[in-house]
Amino acid sequence: MTKVVAITGASNRMGKAALQLFAKRGWTVYGGARRVEKIPTGTNMHALKLDVTDSQSNQQFIKTILDEQQHIDVLINNAGYGEGGPIEDVPIENARKQFNTNFFGAAELTKLVLPSMRAQGCGRIVNISSIGGDVYMPLNSYYHASKAALQQWSDTLDVEVQKFGIRSVIVQPGGTQSSWGAITMDNVRKNLKPDSVYQPFVDGVDQLFNGSTSTITATSADLARVFYSAATDMKTKQRYFNSFGDRLIVRVARAHPKFYRAASTAILNHLVR
Ligand SMILES: NC(=O)c1ccc[n+]([C@@H]2O[C@H](COP(=O)([O-])OP(=O)(O)OC[C@H]3O[C@@H](n4cnc5c(N)ncnc54)[C@H](OP(=O)(O)O)[C@@H]3O)[C@@H](O)[C@H]2O)c1
Repeated sequence: MTKVVAITGASNRMGKAALQLFAKRGWTVYGGARRVEKIPTGTNMHALKLDVTDSQSNQQFIKTILDEQQHIDVLINNAGYGEGGPIEDVPIENARKQFNTNFFGAAELTKLVLPSMRAQGCGRIVNISSIGGDVYMPLNSYYHASKAALQQWSDTLDVEVQKFGIRSVIVQPGGTQSSWGAITMDNVRKNLKPDSVYQPFVDGVDQLFNGSTSTITATSADLARVFYSAATDMKTKQRYFNSFGDRLIVRVARAHPKFYRAASTAILNHLVR
């Protein structure tokens, strides 16, 4: 029987690259996103319209796949974005939208797929977090909070469902070439109040951010390979990283929170004046 994977956020970068990699390796792949026309299709690649913040859309997504294939082996919760901005300025409804996409979307899709995975006695939920689930940068509070929530939730789920042959794991990408940074910076600007006291800080971070994106070397194809390992490893890991550097920064931030905070504050104060 062909293995079936459902991937959210498959219209761009990591999700799209993962869709193509799984298909190339013989899986039947279903990709979901709002811009369904941007999801590649082919013999074993299917595109479905999906808005993970909409319960009806989530139900339809899982139902269509189960109706057509009768089983789902892996769900990859990849859809996500950054609702950037200073905490004081970000409207609370936008903070909710951030959680509805990055956290509740994944939670609802997982709840919808678990009964069939339990019945078949196996399955894997791959949750795409970020190194930002453990480390933090100013202007990204709600993004970090949503990814930290996803990690705690995934770990809890893993303990609850292991006895049914199901595993829940986390991938933590670091900076990867994508539209993520541009979307986040757009949101930072949209969320700034008129005459915001944070404007000069935002301008400084924007400059810093623009300069640093050119140094990002990780590609969507690199991350697709990590997604594949997370979905298929016989001996699962709780956390998957693309590089030693990504793993190291998370280790340091978790083991030495005071040091991480002091170092990042000092660097930022030095660079953003
Ligand atoms: N790029 C990075 O540096 C980086 C680092 C760490 C973690 N990540 C995480 O990795 C994942 C993939 O990011 P990426 O870099 O590939 O970003 P991207 O290029 O911006 O792609 C994001 C994908 O999410 C989908 N999406 C967003 N909101 C959605 C919604 N409400 N319903 C359904 N799909 C939705 C988008 O599709 P539509 O707009 O067509 O719906 C798109 O396909 C995200 O969870 C992100 O937080 C990225």
